[in-house]
Amino acid sequence: MDIFEKCYKEGGYLGIFRTVNDKYWTRPLLSTKPGTEMVFNGKKMIMWSINNYLGLAGNEEIKKVSLEACKEYSASAPMGSRMLTGNTVEHEALEERLAKYQNKKASILFNYGYLGVLGTLSALVHRSDTIVVDKLSHASMIDGTFLASGKFRFYKHNDMEDLDKQVHAAMEKNAGGVLIVTEGVFGMRGDLANLPDICDIKEKHGARLFLDDAHGCGVMGPNGKGTSEHFDVMDRVDVYFSTFAKSFAAIGGFTAGDEDVIRYIIYNARTHIFAKSLPMLYVKIINKTLDVIEQNPGIRKRLWEVATKLQKGLRELGFSLGNTQSPVTPVYVPAEPQVAKKIVAYMRDEQRVFVSGVMYPVVPKTVILLRLIPTAAHTDEQIEKTLAGFKNLRDAFKLQLDKVKI
Ligand SMILES: Cc1ncc(COP(=O)(O)O)c(C=O)c1O
Repeated sequence: MDIFEKCYKEGGYLGIFRTVNDKYWTRPLLSTKPGTEMVFNGKKMIMWSINNYLGLAGNEEIKKVSLEACKEYSASAPMGSRMLTGNTVEHEALEERLAKYQNKKASILFNYGYLGVLGTLSALVHRSDTIVVDKLSHASMIDGTFLASGKFRFYKHNDMEDLDKQVHAAMEKNAGGVLIVTEGVFGMRGDLANLPDICDIKEKHGARLFLDDAHGCGVMGPNGKGTSEHFDVMDRVDVYFSTFAKSFAAIGGFTAGDEDVIRYIIYNARTHIFAKSLPMLYVKIINKTLDVIEQNPGIRKRLWEVATKLQKGLRELGFSLGNTQSPVTPVYVPAEPQVAKKIVAYMRDEQRVFVSGVMYPVVPKTVILLRLIPTAAHTDEQIEKTLAGFKNLRDAFKLQLDKVKI
């Protein structure tokens, strides 16, 4: 059999979209510069689908630093992996700074968040160990769990009784250790991991906790340090991870923790050892972005103002936003799959509001989740226009909003 046979037929992950060469639901072609207004299919629309939480994409101060860095180092420096020829004083200084930012002793940089999660989990978890992971965690944690050579168990989403049961069973059955794995802010639904109870459970059993705070870092907590700061458990989270692809509006990620644990990851994470070093360009950009974040707490305040105004307006229109406790704004709309597509198209083409539609299996088959990501850069006028668009949607489709079951 020809190994390529599957490629000539429909099928595979997201294969139904491939066969029609879709550019509307998957891989939509958007204008290049990220912002609150972008062009899609020749039409300008209000953008609610990029994770530019703090509105720092295109920030002039950061842009200036990136231009200078590009002039000095181009995109190539440094060459080689950190292990061989790609380590620099600047990389190590940034790691030290990120560790301090998270009240940790050390940290390690990765080139993508996805590689950070994969590298961290597969380095820490060995054959006799077990990962106990929230069922609704991002694909990077699920893939990292499969890549690690240990055993694994899923626990029901944010269900503390089930978590306790799974950790207890893992401890009883295996000689190795247990790593609990969860998102801080769940990126699709906006709800928060119950970190105080998770910490209690892990301490009761002598397990450890890995927190992926991709949607919480820079956003949650009195100083924006994340979901662990929000719950006042920064010192109880053993391994903290975030990407730079969301509130930092860049690329890369980091894992922070105790000195020995991070040094172990440095010498064992294959996605770090066998990958070229994070370009100096990004080291400089992320350093500057941290300056901007730390010196301008007003940006985070504005993000929360936008989020609160948007969420309040949507609730007043009768839409259900589930249990979000973060800026992530999931609008649950009752609709069968065929109508669901028309709803997304109506919002984009008629109302000029770009939202992403999330369908089964993330939500039940009779529901579509329209996911909005507010940012500090959105204006009050854009919020008003968006709310008017949702009112039109509700009326045009005669949505029975009280019937939504999630
Ligand atoms: C929770 C979570 N973890 C990890 C990642 C991967 O990060 P990156 O895009 O930097 O690879 C994402 C990205 O969507 C995410 O949402």
